[in-house]
Amino acid sequence: MITTRITELFGIDHPIAQGGMQWVGKAELVAAVANAGALGFITALTQPTPEDLAREIRRTRDMTDQPFGVNLTILPSIKPPPYAEYRQAIIEGGVKIVETAGYKPQEHVDHFKQHGIKVIHKCTAVRHALSAERMGVDAISIDGFECAGHPGEDDIPGLILIPAAADRVKIPMLASGGFGDGRGLAAALALGADGINMGTRFCVTKEAPIPDAFKQRMVENDERATDLIFRTLHNTARVMKNAVSQQVVEIERRGGAKFEDVQALVAGARGRDALADGDTDGGIWSAGMIQGLIHDIPTVKDLIDRIIAEAEAVIESRLGRMLAAAPKKAPA
Ligand SMILES: Cc1cc2nc3c(=O)[nH]c(=O)nc-3n(C[C@H](O)[C@H](O)[C@H](O)COP(=O)(O)O)c2cc1C
Repeated sequence: MITTRITELFGIDHPIAQGGMQWVGKAELVAAVANAGALGFITALTQPTPEDLAREIRRTRDMTDQPFGVNLTILPSIKPPPYAEYRQAIIEGGVKIVETAGYKPQEHVDHFKQHGIKVIHKCTAVRHALSAERMGVDAISIDGFECAGHPGEDDIPGLILIPAAADRVKIPMLASGGFGDGRGLAAALALGADGINMGTRFCVTKEAPIPDAFKQRMVENDERATDLIFRTLHNTARVMKNAVSQQVVEIERRGGAKFEDVQALVAGARGRDALADGDTDGGIWSAGMIQGLIHDIPTVKDLIDRIIAEAEAVIESRLGRMLAAAPKKAPA
C-alpha cells in the first residue's frame, strides 16, 4: 500500500487516477478503475447530452460502490456545450469528485464547491496551478509536455514541471503525462507529487471501450510515435502519429495555415468514426509518448496492482538497498 495525501483526500486505496478521455472515459473503464482501488473519471462531454451523462453516472454506480468522478473539459468554443446543465447532472447524480480541465474554471469550481464536491484541476503550467489553488480547488493534476492531448505551449517536461509545481503548490498534487509503470509512480513521488494521473496507459487495458486495433497499435508504437498538431495555431495537441496527423503536420509546416485548412482532417466526427471502425489511420487519436513503455493489454486491476508492486519494489529494494550499501565514512 502506498498512502499519500491524494489517497486520503479522495478515500481511495492507490494514488493513481484515470483522467478524463474523450470517447474512452465511460462507465466500463471508470468502474474497473474504481473497483481496482484507483480514481476513474467519466468524461462528461463524451455524452451527447446532460441526460446521457446522468445515465452514464447511474450505469457506473451499478458497476461499483467505490468512489469515482466526472471530468468536465472546458473548451474555448464559439458554441459551447450547455455546461451549466452538465454541472447539474453531476451534482444531481451525487458525484463527489470532479476533474476540471481547460480555461477559466472559476464558475465551474464555485458551483461544485457550493455542493461540497471535491475538485481536482488539471493544468499544464505552474502559474495556472497556483491560480486554481487560489480559486479553492482541492487538488492539482499537473500535465507535463509528454502527455496525450493538450500539453499547452510552454513545452516543459515532467522532470522539471513536477518539482517546479511541487515547490509552490500547497494542496495535494498528481503528476500527469508520461506515466505508465511503477518506476514512473516512484519517480513522481520522489519529485514531490502525491500520485499519478494516466491517460494513454489506461486506453491499453482490456476494459477500455475502444477497438483492439487501437490498443495493438499503441503496443507496437514506440516513444517517437506521436505528433504535435495545432502548434502553429497555439492550441497544441499531442496525438498518435498516423496518416492523418502527418498530413496536418505537413500543412502546418508549409506556414500560414488557418484552422479551416486542417478542419476536415481533424474533425471530431471523423475521429469518432475512425475509432468506431477500428481504423487507426482514419482520424486524429490522442496518445502520449508513454506508448514506448506500453507492451501489453492487461486488465485494469492487473495494471494497477503491478504499478503499485513495482513502485514499492523500487522504493524499498532498489533505492533502499542503495542507501544500505553506502559505505560508512571512516572515522577521522
Ligand atoms: C484518448 C485520449 C483522450 C483524452 N481526452 C481528454 C479530455 O477530453 N479531457 C481532458 O481533460 N483530458 C483528456 N485527455 C488527457 C488525459 O486525461 C491525461 O491528462 C493525459 O492522457 C495524461 O498523459 P498520458 O497519456 O501520457 O498519461 C485525453 C487523453 C487521451 C489518451
